[in-house]
Amino acid sequence: MSAFLEIKDLHAKVGDKEILKGVNLTIESGKVMAIMGPNGCGKSTLSAVITGNPTYQVTGGSILFKGKDLLKMTPDERANAGVFLAFQRPTELPGVSMAQLLKAALNAKRTFLKEKPLDAVQFMKHLKVRATALGITDEMLKRSVNVGFSGGEKKRLETFQMAVLEPDFCILDEMDSGLDVDALKVVGGAISVMREEKRSFMIITHHDDLLRYVAPDKVAIMRDGKILQVGDKELVAKVEEKGYDNF
Ligand SMILES: Nc1ncnc2c1ncn2[C@@H]1O[C@H](COP(=O)(O)OP(=O)(O)OP(=O)(O)O)[C@@H](O)[C@H]1O
Ligand SMILES: [Mg+2]
Repeated sequence: MSAFLEIKDLHAKVGDKEILKGVNLTIESGKVMAIMGPNGCGKSTLSAVITGNPTYQVTGGSILFKGKDLLKMTPDERANAGVFLAFQRPTELPGVSMAQLLKAALNAKRTFLKEKPLDAVQFMKHLKVRATALGITDEMLKRSVNVGFSGGEKKRLETFQMAVLEPDFCILDEMDSGLDVDALKVVGGAISVMREEKRSFMIITHHDDLLRYVAPDKVAIMRDGKILQVGDKELVAKVEEKGYDNF
């Protein structure tokens, strides 16, 4: 059986600048993979390439997602197939509310999967349970997406989108940056309850903050556009203690 996500010798560039220089990484189904690495080593670029951000040009290698060639799929197809990215810097969508955005996204996914779209009542029920769990108020749901929200609120809203869309592959890019201690606990709890056999996570982080709540099965160390080492969660402590010079 093929792996859940299999990245082989992935190269990507922006303009003339090569950023990913041969990434190899495998994530198994039901597992949490943490990715750590110094600023600028290519972590966010890797997540952008997986989701199909057209800013980055893939110049070599492959990404198989549940046996399918992800690089041949459009960003929409990837999202509908269950690939989700919680952004390091969430984008603002003036004039579009979180409720509108999520209803459109969830029903697009359901239609893609040949499931019946949720009607307004079913959708609000689905939304409210998850909003309550993450401390998202009605006022926040009505406001334009990410416009004027604090850094920590934006991160909580990213987690909320993930909880509503229930994707199979969740990429969290520095979800823990900007969260206060209580929010970290709430977000960590929300991620933990989503752990199940059919779902995998890629958690990009600089510290062990979120990983204390969501224990990773494996940790990958990235440097200069490549994965240098994959190990177990003891690597997190090694990074915290000694930095990246020993990798
Ligand atoms: N659109 C772009 N145009 C020019 N350079 C870019 C672009 N996107 C990324 N880069 C460069 O590619 C390198 C990798 O950036 P990336 O954002 O992937 O790093 P990162 O590992 O996520 O860093 P951090 O830990 O600071 O978030 C950086 O040197 C960055 O300046
Ligand atoms: Mg980044």
